[in-house]
Amino acid sequence: MTAAGPSTAPPAEVLREAGRRRTFAVISHPDAGKSTVTEALALHARVISQAGAVHGKAGRRGVVSDWMELEKARGISITSAALQFAYRDAVVNLLDTPGHADFSEDTYRVLAAVDSAVMLLDAAKGLEPQTLKLFDVCRHRGIPVITFVNKWDRPGRDALELCDELVERIGLQPMPLTWPVGEAGDFRGVLDRRDGHFTRYSRTAGGATAAGEDRLPPARAEAEEGARWTRAVEESELMSASGGDFDRERFLAASATPVLFGSAVLNFGVRHLLDLLVELAPRPEPRRDVEARPRALDAPFSAFVFKVQTGMDPSHRDQVAFARVCSGVFERGMVVTNATTGRPFATKYAQQVFGQHRSTVDTAYPGDVIGLVNATALRVGDTLHTGRPAVRFPGLPSFAPAHFAVARPADLSRAKQFRRGIDQLESEGVVQVLRSLRRGEGSPVFAAVGPMQFEVAAYRLDTEFKSPVRLERLPYTVARRLPDPDHRAVVDSRGSEVLTRADGTHLALFTDSTALAVLRRLHPEVTLEPLVAGGE
Ligand code: G4P
Repeated sequence: MTAAGPSTAPPAEVLREAGRRRTFAVISHPDAGKSTVTEALALHARVISQAGAVHGKAGRRGVVSDWMELEKARGISITSAALQFAYRDAVVNLLDTPGHADFSEDTYRVLAAVDSAVMLLDAAKGLEPQTLKLFDVCRHRGIPVITFVNKWDRPGRDALELCDELVERIGLQPMPLTWPVGEAGDFRGVLDRRDGHFTRYSRTAGGATAAGEDRLPPARAEAEEGARWTRAVEESELMSASGGDFDRERFLAASATPVLFGSAVLNFGVRHLLDLLVELAPRPEPRRDVEARPRALDAPFSAFVFKVQTGMDPSHRDQVAFARVCSGVFERGMVVTNATTGRPFATKYAQQVFGQHRSTVDTAYPGDVIGLVNATALRVGDTLHTGRPAVRFPGLPSFAPAHFAVARPADLSRAKQFRRGIDQLESEGVVQVLRSLRRGEGSPVFAAVGPMQFEVAAYRLDTEFKSPVRLERLPYTVARRLPDPDHRAVVDSRGSEVLTRADGTHLALFTDSTALAVLRRLHPEVTLEPLVAGGE
C-alpha cells in the first residue's frame, strides 16, 4: 500500500473501526503490579499462552520474546509504546507508561493519548503518593478511571476501608462492580454486584495460565462459602447504600470510578477487567482542535505525536515518533502534513516497534498508535494531518518541574554538538530546557520532574553527541507560570529567577513554597499561576 494521497476509506468503516477501539493505559505507584497486570491482560486476550509473572522479572523477558515470536507468526502488533490485541469484538490498545515516578512527565504525555486509564492499587497499601498524583492528572484531563485493587491474594487492608479512602482522599466515588469473597490473603472469588452471582476462582499451577472460574448462584455460594459469602453480600449492600452502584455517566464524567478486586499474579479478576473495558470504557471521541472544534472521527486523517524516542536501534541513530490517530484512516505511504511547520512528511516507514523488533503498520484507525521511523522533524505535541483545511490539536501540557540544573559543556570544543544535543533532548521532552538572557545561550537550565531525567540527559549528551555535560544543581524546587513578563524584574530581584521555555512560557522559580508566599505577600500585583493541575 503506497497511496500518496488522503485515504479513501468509507466513513462508515472508519466509524465502525473507531467504535471497536479501547485505548487505555495502566498506571500505578511503582510495584503495585503494572507489568504483571499487562501480561495478565494479554494472556486473557490469548496473545500469549502462558504468563511469566510468577517467574519474576527475569522470566518476563522470556514472555516478551514469546510475544515477538507470536507477533511474527500471527501478525499481532506489540510495541514499546502500545500493545495491541483483539478481545471479543474489540481492538484493545494498551499504552505503555514508564514505571519510575521520575519519568511521570512521560506518563502524563501518554495520558493525553488514551481514552481511559486503569489505576492499580496494592491491596495492602491503598493510595500511595504516585497514585494520588496520577488520579489528580486524570481528573484534570477528565480521563475516566477504572480502579483495580491488586494483590488480594496477600494479606492487606479491608475492602470497605479502601473504598472509603477513595472518597475521603481524592473525592472519587467508588462503584465496585465486584466485591471480594474472603478477606485479603484468603481470596476465594468475587461477588458480581450486577447479578449477585459468585465467580469462584481456582488456582492453576503457579497462576501460569488463565485462572479457573466457576459461576455459582447466590444460594450455592452461601452454602459453600458460609460467613465469607454473607459478609460480602452485607458489605456490598453497604456500598449500595452509600451511592456505590454503577452509573456509567458518572464514570465517563470522571467523577466516580468502577472498582474491581483481583490478583494479577494469579490471573484472578483480570477477565472482569477486560470485559469492563470492552463493555463500558469509552471509545475514541472526536478530539478538539486548538479552537475547541471537535474533529469528526471520519474526517480526513489526523494524529498527534505524544512520544519521541531516539536510539532504539543502536546500529544507527534513528528517531521514532509515536502518534495517536484521531480521525480518518492511516495508510502507510501516505504523505501527511506536519501542522506545526506546514511541511510534508512521508510515512513510508510506519512501524510497530518493540525494542529491536519492528513490524510494518499498513492501516490504523482512530485510537491506534503508529510509530513513525526516521521522524527527525517531528516533536512531541505536533499534529499530523491530510486534507484541507489544516487541523492543529492543542500541545501537550507538561508537569511542573521540581528539579533544576544549569548545563554547561564540559568540553568547549564540542559546543556545537552540545547545542544540537540539547535541541534534540528538548524536542523529545527528555528534560524541559529553560533559558534567560542573563544566563546566555551557552548555559541553559534543565528542568525535570524527577532527577533521573538529568541522568538520562547527561548520558545521552555524552554518548550520542560526544559532548559531556557539567550539571550544576540549582536550589529551586517550586515553579510557577508568570503570565506578565513585565513582572520579571520584581521576581528576579527576590532571590528567585525567571526563565523562559521554548514555547514562550515564562517560569518563575523559587527555593520553596515559603519564598513563593513571601513574594505573594510583598507583591500581590504579580500574578503567578500553577503550571498544570496534578503537577504541583
Ligand atoms: P510494577 O510494574 O507496577 O512495578 O509491578 P510488577 O508487575 O513488577 O510487580 C511488583 C511485584 O509485585 C512483583 O514482585 C510481582 O510479582 C508482585 N505482584 C504483582 N501482582 C501481584 C499479585 O496480584 N499478588 C502478589 N502476591 N504479588 C503480585 P517482585 O517480588 O518485585 O518480583 P517477582 O520476582 O515476584 O516478579
